[in-house]
Amino acid sequence: MNLILLGPPGAGKGTQASKIVEKYNIPHISTGDIFRKNISEGTRLGKKAKEYMDKGELVPDSLVIEIATDRLLEKDTEKGFLLDGFPRTVEQAVALDAFLREHGKAIDHVLDIDVDKDELITRLIGRRVCSSCGKTYHVTNMPPKVEGECDACQGELMQRADDTKGTVENRIEVYNRQTKPLLDYYDKLGNIAHLDGAIGLETLFAQIVDILGE
Ligand code: AP5
Ligand code: MG
Ligand code: ZN
Repeated sequence: MNLILLGPPGAGKGTQASKIVEKYNIPHISTGDIFRKNISEGTRLGKKAKEYMDKGELVPDSLVIEIATDRLLEKDTEKGFLLDGFPRTVEQAVALDAFLREHGKAIDHVLDIDVDKDELITRLIGRRVCSSCGKTYHVTNMPPKVEGECDACQGELMQRADDTKGTVENRIEVYNRQTKPLLDYYDKLGNIAHLDGAIGLETLFAQIVDILGE
């Protein structure tokens, strides 16, 4: 099963992605996670991506397309994949379609999760991420058992560098300007489901399973 998760920053893409990949046993491909890994390892790609990410701007298409398509050439994607945060511009979507066609593949479902702006800001400002295993929490919506500590691995919980109020607002604007046009693109192809992400995460996951099948 080949899937795309679309939605504004903080809609819950990463949260649902963890549950989807566990149930359907497919790899989770998040371009944001790939960039953050490169930043923490201090690679050239990381340095380049950081310039854009810290401002809440998109990393240039040419760079993202290369990273994503390279990842899609890896063997574990043969059984399917879940793209989280890619594509994010019409140009990226067109490049992805051409790549998939060339490899005899197609996207089965696009899941678009939407949440209103005030709630997105609350979610992002309150998000905490485990510095060791990457598990995501929220200070009030999904607090860890012990403050500042990951339930799963006792790692230290951190705030993402781009989860500051100013950057969050710009990320939402960038989404509206550059990513929202993609909804039209997939509406025309007819394989997109629009979901309300303001509901509880388990209810939302149940709706996703209804769409994807057991
Ligand atoms: P990326 O890492 O993709 O970030 P994003 O799109 O901004 O989305 P987030 O990860 O912030 O939100 P999410 O939807 O995953 O929410 P989450 O589940 O964590 O991209 C980062 C940057 O990298 C971009 O700005 C750009 O610079 C660059 N980049 C990446 N891909 C690119 C591309 N293709 N092209 C160009 N540039 C690219 O949830 C958020 C919070 O809400 C958490 O605290 C969670 O606990 C809570 N929560 C989740 N679900 C619920 C719920 N149902 N109810 C209540 N709380 C909830
Ligand atoms: Mg995410
Ligand atoms: Zn952890």
